[in-house]
Amino acid sequence: NPTGPLRHFLQLRDFSEEEILYVIDRARLIKDKFKRYLPHHTLHDRNLAMVFEKASTRTRVSFEAGMYQLGGSVIYLTTEGSQLGRAEPIEDTARVVSRMVDLVMIRTFEQTRIERFAAHSRVPVINGLTNEYHPCQILADILTFVEHRGPIRGRTVAWIGDANNMSYTWLQAAELLGFTLHVSAPAGYRLDPLRVGDQPASILREFDDPLEACKGADLVTTDVWTSMGYESENEARRLAFADWCVDARMMAAANPDALFMHCLPAHRGEEVTGEVIDGPQSVVWDEAENRLHAQKALMEFLLLGRL
Ligand code: CP
Ligand code: NVA
Repeated sequence: NPTGPLRHFLQLRDFSEEEILYVIDRARLIKDKFKRYLPHHTLHDRNLAMVFEKASTRTRVSFEAGMYQLGGSVIYLTTEGSQLGRAEPIEDTARVVSRMVDLVMIRTFEQTRIERFAAHSRVPVINGLTNEYHPCQILADILTFVEHRGPIRGRTVAWIGDANNMSYTWLQAAELLGFTLHVSAPAGYRLDPLRVGDQPASILREFDDPLEACKGADLVTTDVWTSMGYESENEARRLAFADWCVDARMMAAANPDALFMHCLPAHRGEEVTGEVIDGPQSVVWDEAENRLHAQKALMEFLLLGRL
């Protein structure tokens, strides 16, 4: 925002409830124009640098297509293809890149790494996934819920599986937007009490049994058993998570009109059955598409403020 202080989107709670709802609302308008082939070039001549230190399909395509659709352009950087892979300090990379572009998106490992970048950046920085958070995905997920079911306030979301970047971002969403998060994960992979802090039962309830966690849920959601960066734990996780596969029985325990979401990529037969992810309650393709619309609204908001 040229008139206000520099804003970043490093985690969901960098925004207020009102700002999140503004971005969601704006995403709906931008989506509607996109569907009608109406140009929306609010970021004409603006340039986005994207730094990928981990693989991506959706995040890259949605940011890259989105920025071009807004009239801007993008630069795609990877660790190996840049001096980051040859140990240039992230602070120096931030100082240099942020003098040349208007906006930066980073996908990396530790949250502290993106924070170090942001601390030395002259332009807004967006978290495109870290080990700790995935706030752009949750913007798209909230947009998807709102489109299908209306406001999420007061509703219940069941998270089945690993207490990973997605689950902690869902928790921030529950706190900010006022809904209840049910979480069920096997021992050893549960939410860290130190990170969670004191939460009332209206915000967070944890369950040993995933079936119990699904009861009363308006949305059932899950993610891979092994996130990027944790591949060495693959075998142990495969054993530990065997009973945390979202199947028809779990969906039947949820509310009759419950939706199913998954940030993707998915592994049918592991965290979700093909029957569920390809079934009538699944909105995963809308969810993936909404990355595009939500992030266009986010980039616009960070650069132009409210329009
Ligand atoms: N959901 C998501 O962020 O997908 P990618 O890893 O393909 O970007
Ligand atoms: N939790 C997953 C999400 C991928 C989009 C990961 O971090 O790999």
